[in-house]
Amino acid sequence: MKDLAGKHIVLGLTGGIACFKAAELCRSLVKEGATVQVVMTEAAEHFITPVTMQALSNRPVYGSQWDPREPNSMPHINLSRDADAILIAPASADFMAKLLHGRADDLLSLLCLARPAASVPLIVAPAMNREMWAHPATQRNVAQLKADGVEVLEVGQGEQACGETGDGRMLEADEILADLIAFFTPKVLAGQHVLVTAGPTYEAIDPVRGITNLSSGKMGFAIARAAREAGADVTLVAGPVSLPTPRAVGRVNVKSARDMLTAVQAHIEQATVFVATAAVADWRPATAADQKIKKDGSGDTPELRFIENPDILATVAQSLRGQRGFRGEPGGLFCVGFAAESHDLLSHASAKRTRKGVPLLVGNIGPATFGQDDNALLLVDAQGAIEVPRASKLELARKLIAEIAQRALGPGQKQ
Ligand code: C5P
Repeated sequence: MKDLAGKHIVLGLTGGIACFKAAELCRSLVKEGATVQVVMTEAAEHFITPVTMQALSNRPVYGSQWDPREPNSMPHINLSRDADAILIAPASADFMAKLLHGRADDLLSLLCLARPAASVPLIVAPAMNREMWAHPATQRNVAQLKADGVEVLEVGQGEQACGETGDGRMLEADEILADLIAFFTPKVLAGQHVLVTAGPTYEAIDPVRGITNLSSGKMGFAIARAAREAGADVTLVAGPVSLPTPRAVGRVNVKSARDMLTAVQAHIEQATVFVATAAVADWRPATAADQKIKKDGSGDTPELRFIENPDILATVAQSLRGQRGFRGEPGGLFCVGFAAESHDLLSHASAKRTRKGVPLLVGNIGPATFGQDDNALLLVDAQGAIEVPRASKLELARKLIAEIAQRALGPGQKQ
């Protein structure tokens, strides 16, 4: 299932060099299943041609309110009525000022004003020079647009086309896409703080060698993304993996199980949901050598002794028992564990749920999922087990987040 299947997006382009990113954005929207109607201001046409946008959107591009192709001469009405959202990317400083005042002297501003505001949300991705962005007039306009119900996306930071460096770049196409998908997601975890562990841990033997496992971190990263889409503030404590950080998720990188425990303990106070997806090493070498252990030519092999690592999930669940409830009452914490098994999933997962002292445990077959983009889950709680059939990890993560929201918050408290 594509993330924007069935959605119709009016993509508005205003004048700015970031128009080049709108081409990629248009392509990504179409790839995710949306139909895209491009509307450009005259200034935008100085930066990118309507032909490019037409080819990428597969639809004629509109630029003028006097467009003779519309039999009733009302493109501002015709183009805005069946949209699921109007997305202005890039939104110039001038265009935002126009929106704010309800000006309507070109097709794009006219159709923004004429849209049925209750059913067609307006989302803007600002793009401008850092001085323009920082100017009190622009900041005032941004605040007022938000107060008027417009969704103003963040700006990026970094090198600008003018040669200066600072805030005001338009977000990258993939970031805008992620924000748009999140925008359409029901906010079942609004106001919640979700802490997720993901990936393997790495337990050093010496400065160049260590013990790890085949966990890719994909499931935990997908859960962090899905939780953010559902409106939560998300912190992701990640073992050594090179996956990109999901949009608007706070990431803490760790290596060993003990580092992971420290990072979790630093964030657990604020958390209302804790999802322990990480494949934490059960044991670590009893001592890690300061220097590389060398072969001495004798044929002797080094003796490795192990000691047990802390169980992060059990530590968190047990230390909270009696202090903070499991459900979503203020100050409560809902803990979710994962079990990667090779066989007898139900019995192992049920036993693990009781042993760890958590309300929900998610079982999966380790060898069938490590490194893969899809998986199948078994959700085990006090009531029994539910199978979630094989699907992409992102789809599973979204289903899991819905199940967590239902259990942690109860139907009455969902937003
Ligand atoms: O490794 P095990 O099967 O016991 O993992 C079950 C759950 O406990 C997982 O959610 C995992 O993230 C968590 N865990 C942990 N710290 C450990 C071992 C496991 O948090 N040392």
